[in-house]
Amino acid sequence: MESFEYRGGVLHCEEVALPVLAAEFGTPTYVYSRRALIERYDALAEAFAPLNPKLCFAVKSCHNTHILRLLGEHGAAFDVVSGGEVFRAITAGADPGDIVFAGVGKTDSEIAAAIEAGVGCFNVESEAELAVLAGLAEQGGKVVQVALRVNPDVDAHTHPYTTTGKQENKFGIDLDCARELFKHYSGHSWVRVSGVHMHLGSPVNTVDPYVQAIGKLLGMIDELRAAGVGIDLFNLGGGWGAGDGETPSANPAEYARSIVPLFKGRDLRIHLEPGRSIAANSAVLLERTIYIKEGCVRRFVIGDAAMTDLIRPALYQAYHFLWPVEPGDGFVPPHHRSDLKLPGCVEVDVVGPVCESGDFLAKGRWLPPVKRGDLLAVFSAGAYGAVMSSQYNSRPRAAEVLVDGDTLRLIRRRETYDDLIAAEEGL
Ligand SMILES: Cc1ncc(COP(=O)(O)O)c(C=O)c1O
Repeated sequence: MESFEYRGGVLHCEEVALPVLAAEFGTPTYVYSRRALIERYDALAEAFAPLNPKLCFAVKSCHNTHILRLLGEHGAAFDVVSGGEVFRAITAGADPGDIVFAGVGKTDSEIAAAIEAGVGCFNVESEAELAVLAGLAEQGGKVVQVALRVNPDVDAHTHPYTTTGKQENKFGIDLDCARELFKHYSGHSWVRVSGVHMHLGSPVNTVDPYVQAIGKLLGMIDELRAAGVGIDLFNLGGGWGAGDGETPSANPAEYARSIVPLFKGRDLRIHLEPGRSIAANSAVLLERTIYIKEGCVRRFVIGDAAMTDLIRPALYQAYHFLWPVEPGDGFVPPHHRSDLKLPGCVEVDVVGPVCESGDFLAKGRWLPPVKRGDLLAVFSAGAYGAVMSSQYNSRPRAAEVLVDGDTLRLIRRRETYDDLIAAEEGL
């Protein structure tokens, strides 16, 4: 059974009809399905089970502490990129040893605090960072585990803003430099540099870029081992497709089928850092239509959700399927692609109230007739959705609700006007 499906013409999340949820919590609201989160986590864990990986959920994709706690209790470790994310993961109950810390610009205070907390692995992105980390580890009197994030110069064929494994990107260390660093730091007293990390981009919808990059890095590991440098950890990063856009993506079993055999007999501990593939299709953003506006050349559906709630369409032209919660007879959508054009549908742009022409959730979509007050659901909103929201135009952030069967739990209240000025001193 799908976690989000139309029943009797009404969109449900698990056992809850979304109009009931909207009446209780208002709009815009992020609605997460517990079942969907767990099912997607399990699908990856099962596919990669032969490698016995540590699944480090990418906190950046969906950082609500309740969701982190849910995944942590289900066995997840965590991938973080800031001191704030370390704080969130630990608040959610994570064992610090199950946290891996990436990011190109970790500050000294973030590093020192993470060493003090006992973070399990630092995914180091530059020679300069490694030197700082070594110094701070010595000062803190603790030996730290390091994986060098190697930039394999492989094209992930994703949006330029979310490609991270090409030479021109700021991420990681090129192969030659990484080789030298592994040798230089081999046997160091305070940093145990024995891991290789990569992350190619997000989403990486096909298996090929992984296979190419893993091939390059395994070659480097062979050379290093031959030179007496011990490497015992390989972190494959995230980017696993969720099938959340227009482009089809491989599923966990397909990724695993090509990747698992590459590690046969390699004697490496494996880390994975999935975010989107677990969270994206586990939530919808629920909004209510405020006005229908007939422009000179376009018809606008103006809803109460904006780029401040979901910036992905404005930021990188991300596609989100969007549809009325109660679409009417004959309009239950058979699929989620942008070319869906059922008889009787009308072409519209779905926009928000923010004062920017970039404030849209969907452009040129054929939707069933929508009127003021109708609810719309923006699908695949669970990853890089609520986490990227802002208060621009002094808009309080949306509520977040977690559905489990027929129970509803408010996991983040809607912000208030007082929240908007809470950090402004001396008022
Ligand atoms: C280092 C690292 N790991 C993991 C991820 C998670 O990627 P995704 O959500 O596509 O799985 C990201 C996302 O940008 C990342 O930068």
